[in-house]
Amino acid sequence: MQDLATARILVVDDEPRQLKAVCEVLRENGCPVVGVTSASEALELLTQDRYELLLTDLIMPDMDGIALLRKAIALDPFIAGIVMTGQGTIGTAVDAFHSGALEYMQKPFRVGVALQLIRASLATRQLRLENADLQRRERQRTEELEYANKELAAFTAAVSHDLRNPLQVINSAAWILSHRYGEMMDEDGKDGLQMLQSAALKMGTLIEDLLKLARVTDTPPHVGVIDVTDICRRVATELQRQNPTRSVEVHIEEGLTAFADGHLVTLALDNLIGNAWKYTSKVEHPQIWIGRDIEDKRQPFFVMDNGAGFPADQVAKLFQPFKRLHLQSEFPGTGIGLTTVRRVIERHGGRIWAKGATDQGATFFFTLPTTRENAEQRKSGG
Ligand SMILES: Nc1ncnc2c1ncn2[C@@H]1O[C@H](COP(=O)(O)OP(=O)(O)OP(=O)(O)O)[C@@H](O)[C@H]1O
Ligand SMILES: [Mg+2]
Repeated sequence: MQDLATARILVVDDEPRQLKAVCEVLRENGCPVVGVTSASEALELLTQDRYELLLTDLIMPDMDGIALLRKAIALDPFIAGIVMTGQGTIGTAVDAFHSGALEYMQKPFRVGVALQLIRASLATRQLRLENADLQRRERQRTEELEYANKELAAFTAAVSHDLRNPLQVINSAAWILSHRYGEMMDEDGKDGLQMLQSAALKMGTLIEDLLKLARVTDTPPHVGVIDVTDICRRVATELQRQNPTRSVEVHIEEGLTAFADGHLVTLALDNLIGNAWKYTSKVEHPQIWIGRDIEDKRQPFFVMDNGAGFPADQVAKLFQPFKRLHLQSEFPGTGIGLTTVRRVIERHGGRIWAKGATDQGATFFFTLPTTRENAEQRKSGG
């Protein structure tokens, strides 16, 4: 709490005796106070200097205390204000405070009570200052983070794009080698070529995934009402088309909607359902459930499966780029999918988290705005 001895206090009262009495009490308590007898004098001082607290009479001939306080706040939004009222004027003061939200003190006042009120007002001012500073720092950090993300996205996009050309050359050269000279090679030669081709293929996928990740940050989202149930069905149908031999039971809740960017959410669900599909490939009766958890007050969407799961204590690593909890030989992948999903969800102001255990399946939860109001709120950090 601020010490009274360092607080700059301005006292205004058109009654000189009253003013003297108040100033004396404050000085006796070590407070370097400045006293004036009119609102206009006070305003002049307020424009020249910074005061932490304005203690003003309510009724004065040139300007009432409330009007003076408003002007003082216009000059310094953090100034603490206390209005001193005579008996019978408290009602007016309280009414006025409803619009200005400051303190009042009834005359004649007891010294102890007055000092307490002054200290409390100074403490509130201090808190408001700290709060404003925190908010400013947070805004600055968010801006810096957004800038860094954009920079990183631009860099990723440029590098991935440039990597495509040399990769194309490697692919063509390998193709020529295997078609023209394949017959002349011994087994070791053929193996080497095979390794080269599969590494090039993997690198191609990695580049495409990185480009997708960069695009999430690059392009501004186009939000509107989207049919999440329909998106999930399409993703599942496509997975079945690409893997005709697999038989996975997919349960999708009817009527799921969100207020979000359809392309980005499709990209996220492609990965979440794709993961559920991939990590159930070794269980006997693979099943996937997609819906909303209405028991949880955040009412998140979820994608749940009964597949391989993951070690519960490793859950924090899931959303980090290139972190994989399974062997490439068991379940192939680049480890960038969930990073992309997280970025999509966070771009909508949502959150994503997961639950799972080894051999007991995995559930991914995420929140998305469901209405326009909801989306606005999230954007403003509400
Ligand atoms: N449904 C799931 N069940 C079990 N483990 C999962 C599941 N989804 C993700 N994981 C774990 O999280 C890791 C990261 O997932 P992510 O989607 O980012 O990468 P990936 O699927 O390995 O590769 P890709 O970049 O091709 O998607 C996976 O390697 C896997 O270990
Ligand atoms: Mg994946």
